Amino acid sequence: MTPDLFGEAAPPGLHYLPGFALADEAALIAAARAVAEQAPFRVMSTPGGRKMSVAMTNCGAAGWVSDARGYRYAQRDPLTGLPWPAMPPLFLALAQRAAGMAGFGGFVPDACLINRYEPGAKMAPHQDKDEADFTAPIVSVSLGLPAVFLWGGARRADKPAKLPLLSGDVVVWGGETRLHFHGIAPLRPGSHPLLGAARVNLTFRRAFSA
Ligand code: SIN
Ligand code: FE2
Repeated sequence: MTPDLFGEAAPPGLHYLPGFALADEAALIAAARAVAEQAPFRVMSTPGGRKMSVAMTNCGAAGWVSDARGYRYAQRDPLTGLPWPAMPPLFLALAQRAAGMAGFGGFVPDACLINRYEPGAKMAPHQDKDEADFTAPIVSVSLGLPAVFLWGGARRADKPAKLPLLSGDVVVWGGETRLHFHGIAPLRPGSHPLLGAARVNLTFRRAFSA
C-alpha cells in the first residue's frame, strides 16, 4: 500500500500519485481540446455492436479504436482518414515523469487515448491488452469531475478495490499488474470549473513495439 497525502491508500499493485497533474490541469485540458478539434470525440461500438457510454479520441502515433472488426490500434483516425494529432509535448512529459515516479523509467508512450465521460457514463472492468509491448506501464491522468476507479486483479472475478480519483490525480500500473482488470464506476452528476459536467481521462500506453 502506498499512503498518500490525504491518507487515502492505493490498492496493492497500483501506483497512486494524487494531484500529480494538478499544476498542469488547465494546460492539459486546453491541449486535449486542441486534439479534439482535429480528431473529434466519438462514441465507438464494441465488436459485439454495443455502443460505449464513453466518447473517445486519440493523439500520438497510435490510436485505440473499436468497431465490428475488433479492438486494435490504428495509425489513422477512421473518422477523418488523417493521422492522429501529434501527442502534445506536455502530455508526453507528464506521462514520462509519472512513469518515472512509479519506477518505470524510459517510458516512451506512442498512444494517448482520451476518454470523455458525462454523468452516467462508465467503463466496465477490462484489461488493456491490445498493445504489442506489455513491459511498458499504463499511465492514466484524471481531469474534471471525480470518478471511482475500480482496481481489480488478474482475474475478472477478483473483487475490485474502489479508489476515488479527482482532477489532477494520476495512477500508474505495470510489471506484474500490467494486465490487471480495471474500470470506472458510473460518473456522478456534478460540474467542474474547467470542464463542466464531464470527466476527461488521458491513458498513455506503448501500443506498437519499440
Ligand atoms: C481506461 O481504462 O481506458 C480508462 C480508465 C479511466 O477513465 O480512468
Ligand atoms: Fe483500460
